[in-house]
Amino acid sequence: MTDRYAVIGNPIAHSRSPEIHAAFARQTGQDITYERRLAPLDGFAATAMQFAREGGRGANVTVPFKLEAFALAGERSARAEHAEACNTLAWRGTHWYGDNTDGVGLVRDLTVNLGVSPAGRDILVLGAGGAGHGILAPLLATGPRSLVISNRTAGRAEELARLFAADGPIAARTFDELGAQRFDLVFDATSANLAAIDHADAAALPWPETIFAPGSLAYDLKYAVEPTPFVHWARHHGAARAVDGLGMLIEQAAESFLLWRGVRPDTATVFALLR
Ligand code: ATR
Repeated sequence: MTDRYAVIGNPIAHSRSPEIHAAFARQTGQDITYERRLAPLDGFAATAMQFAREGGRGANVTVPFKLEAFALAGERSARAEHAEACNTLAWRGTHWYGDNTDGVGLVRDLTVNLGVSPAGRDILVLGAGGAGHGILAPLLATGPRSLVISNRTAGRAEELARLFAADGPIAARTFDELGAQRFDLVFDATSANLAAIDHADAAALPWPETIFAPGSLAYDLKYAVEPTPFVHWARHHGAARAVDGLGMLIEQAAESFLLWRGVRPDTATVFALLR
């Protein structure tokens, strides 16, 4: 019997996770299928439970359901407990086991694929939603000089700064307060659509255009075939390097695959295949 996996989100049509897991399965000789599942915005739990009834063995969870996936999981890994968000579910016979592989995936993409060490650097994380939750502890574990979290709804950033205070030097700032600071690593973990924004019009942006220190890296947790609007914007406002989140997507997928199948696929060949 072929084991079934899926990625659940809304929207989901453009997810590249099925291609990635199909490549992992071919490479490792694992007999699995992996599909996209669109969940209604008010129906994540019902969709995940229905998939389990149909024989689903595991699922990745994406925007905007990572916090709901945490709530649904009847058992969780330590890193998911700490993040209070799940991007990976594994069916354990009676309940979903929840894990979070986003942070380890991001740090692996940074350090192994991009050759960037966050140690001693000043980091900015934009956004305090499901993606932001998963990356803070692993980023703080790399030993940055500072990590600022900033969010449109300031209270959510303050809550995350409290939640991760014991992990390292984290502080919450409003978007307006960012005007005075420069950062070496800037992560866009929001779902903000910058596509419609006039790049010459600083006032149109949610955050100041002065956030990039010389030599800085801009990193969009989203990904696309074209440069994402954030990557495009960052390149025009002083980021030395700007990348999208395809590397993170593949690395978090490899960690999920390891949890489900007990074998870690090689990611470099899959990155080359997808890009
Ligand atoms: P959720 O917040 O439900 O977990 P998410 O997609 O993981 O969903 O998170 C969305 C993130 O993008 C949030 O940080 C959100 O900010 P708010 O907490 O203020 O809602 C951020 N976001 C979405 N649209 C944005 C915009 N136009 N400008 C700035 N931030 C935006």
